[in-house]
Amino acid sequence: MNIAIVVHGGAWDIPPELQAEHVAGCRAAAETGWAVLTAGGPALDAVETAIRVMENHPVFDAGRGSHLNRDGEVELDAGMMDGRTLMAGAVAAVRRVANPISLARRVLHDSPHVFLVGAGAEAFAAAVGLPLCDPDDLIVERERGLWQARRAAGGEGRPAFGSADTVGAVALDAAGNLAVGNSTGGTFFKHPGRVGDTPLIGCGLYADNTVGAAACTGWGEQIMKTVLAKTVVDQIALLGDADVAAEVAISYFKRRVGGLGGVICISPAGQIGLAHSTPHMAHAYRTAEMPAVVAAIRRVSRKEEQ
Ligand code: GLY
Repeated sequence: MNIAIVVHGGAWDIPPELQAEHVAGCRAAAETGWAVLTAGGPALDAVETAIRVMENHPVFDAGRGSHLNRDGEVELDAGMMDGRTLMAGAVAAVRRVANPISLARRVLHDSPHVFLVGAGAEAFAAAVGLPLCDPDDLIVERERGLWQARRAAGGEGRPAFGSADTVGAVALDAAGNLAVGNSTGGTFFKHPGRVGDTPLIGCGLYADNTVGAAACTGWGEQIMKTVLAKTVVDQIALLGDADVAAEVAISYFKRRVGGLGGVICISPAGQIGLAHSTPHMAHAYRTAEMPAVVAAIRRVSRKEEQ
């Protein structure tokens, strides 16, 4: 059984005091997804359940614990793609859905559309029986404090990339099907209505059984301009090696737009690839050859960052 799973918990300069929680959250997510795969479950289920674990963990910028926008509100984006059928589902700027990855999954299966936003996405959630929450339930004290500090400091200026705890997962199931998903609260102090790469097919995520699957994390504006997830998958098709493909795509991302971010990917053969241009990327993975999940903060040397 050539099953595999890899998850990311964001690529940025993760402060030392938050690193253990990032590793624990990624490990729990990968183990949950792995249990689905070993039980013979589909890659889509493994991805959704793994991402729900991270959405529910307040350390990540996804679900509860997400960054607040300029108005002090949480707006969530998520997407999923099925590598067997190329069916995709995505949502953006939802404020009352605690697990937007599950809403993206319902869009994938139950809607004739690929992408729903805002109030329309929430109406769809209610129509398909997903619970709606109080927007305040998604806000944690850490994020409220950061938002208040930014407001007190004037709050204006061009948004800069700081943290990106966006979460994502890629899985290969026993039937040989690939799936990918991503979920985020977006960038800190973003303009209300801003959407990044996370839910955009080809930018934040892409899956095709015939070539591979990839999920991205990092500065969405840069990732969108370089269509990074599809770039990674195209490189897997060209080079036949997931790890080299991830490195080549990140190297292009850095060279072309000074990109700050990271990617995870899986080839149709079950090989995992990871690469990032930021100092750290939180991640976890397991393949059929491994006795247990490996979870860690991946580091880039200062030399490589140049
Ligand atoms: N990659 C997350 C975002 O830019 O929204």
